[in-house]
Amino acid sequence: MVHYFATVARGLESLAAQEIEALGGQNVSPGFCGVDFTGDRPLLYRVNLWARLPFRILATVATFPCATADDLYDGIQALDWSTYLTPEQTLAVNATGKTQRLNHSHFTALQVKNAIVDQQRDRSGSRSTVDPQTPDVQVNVHLYQGQATVSLDSSGGSLHRRGYRPAVGMAPLKESLAAALVYLTEWQPDQAFCDPMCGSGTLPLEASLIALNHAPGLQRDRFGFETWPDFDPVCWQQLRQEAEAAQRPELGAPIVGCDRDQDVIEQARTNAECCGINTHLEFYQQDLSTVEAPATSGVVLCNPPYGKRLGQGEDLAALYKLLGNVLKQQFKGWTAYVLSGNKALAQSIGLKSAQRWPIYNGTLPCQLMKYELY
Ligand SMILES: C[S@@+](CC[C@H](N)C(=O)[O-])C[C@H]1O[C@@H](n2cnc3c(N)ncnc32)[C@H](O)[C@@H]1O
Repeated sequence: MVHYFATVARGLESLAAQEIEALGGQNVSPGFCGVDFTGDRPLLYRVNLWARLPFRILATVATFPCATADDLYDGIQALDWSTYLTPEQTLAVNATGKTQRLNHSHFTALQVKNAIVDQQRDRSGSRSTVDPQTPDVQVNVHLYQGQATVSLDSSGGSLHRRGYRPAVGMAPLKESLAAALVYLTEWQPDQAFCDPMCGSGTLPLEASLIALNHAPGLQRDRFGFETWPDFDPVCWQQLRQEAEAAQRPELGAPIVGCDRDQDVIEQARTNAECCGINTHLEFYQQDLSTVEAPATSGVVLCNPPYGKRLGQGEDLAALYKLLGNVLKQQFKGWTAYVLSGNKALAQSIGLKSAQRWPIYNGTLPCQLMKYELY
C-alpha cells in the first residue's frame, strides 16, 4: 500500500474524494486543496487515467521532521534514491510550503536536488541531470508544521490538460472545474444538457466525455509514472484497453452548446474533433436571445461573462436579465445552474435560487446558483 495525495482546486476536495473512492481508493480523506488516499500501483494508474477532478497524484515517499537546511539534506540522503531514479534519468524538484528557517522554496528545492545527486555520485560515480520541463522523475517536497513530505509526481503535468484542447476561448474553464460543475448539477447522461454561452465548449465537452464514459486521461501524451523505474507497462496497457472497451457508442440525450461568437464556436468544434466526439454533440452560433431548449427537460449549465476577464464595459446586468428571461420562458421544466463571480450581476437574473455553492475559478471566488424552472 502506498500513500497518495491528489491535489485539487480549493472547494472541490469532497467531490474529488467521492470520485477517488469510486475508483477504488482506500482510506480516502479530503484535506485542504487535496485528498489523501492509499492504494496499490494499479490504483495509481487508474486514478490518473479516470479521475476528472484532480490536478496531480503525488505518491508519498517519506515524511520526516525538518526545521533546518541540514535536517532536509540529511532526511533526503537517508532515503535510497536508487529505488526512484537511475543516474541516467533526468530529475526536477519542486518545493512548496515553509518552515521558520526554510522559507525560500527555490533554496529548499536546490537543497533536495543536491542531496539526491550527491547520493547518486557517491554510490555510482554519476548523477541525474536536471530537466525542469519534462523530467523523467519529478520530486515534490512540501514543508508544513516542522515536517517535510517528499513525494513523486505520478501525473507529470496537470491532469486538467486532457490533451483535447489546442483551442481555448477567451476565458475557458479548466476541464477539471468544468467536470466538477457537471457533477454538482447531478445531471444524468439520459438527460438533455445545454450551455447557451459555451465559449470554447468546455462544459458540453466534459458532460459528453462523462456520458460516453471516455476516460479523461486516454488522450494525454504522457504520465509521470511511465518513466519511473518500477513502471509496469503490461498493467498500464491493460487499463488503457479496458478504458477503450468501456466507452459508450452514443449519448443518451442531446448535448448542445451555443455562443454568439462564431470564432469560439469553431474552437469548440475543433476541441470536440480532437476528442473524437464531434459527431455526438452539437455547437451552434446563436445569440442567447434566440436560444431554444433542445428537449422538454434537462440541465442548463453556463458561466456567463462576469466582468473580471470578459465582458468588461458591456452591459452585463442586461445580459444576466436576458439570461433569466430566456431560462424562464424557453427552459420550463429544466433545472439551470449558473456560475458567476459577481453577486450583484447574479441578482440581475431575477430568479430565486434553490441552492448555492461557493466555488473557486482559479483564485476568483464564485458561486454556482441552481434554479428550478417551472
Ligand atoms: C466566460 S465565457 C464562457 C467560457 C466557457 N465556459 C469555456 O470554458 O470556454 C462566456 C461566453 O459568453 C458568450 N456570450 C456573451 N454574451 C452572449 C450572448 N448575448 N449570447 C450568447 N453568448 C454570449 C461569450 O461569447 C463567451 O464565450
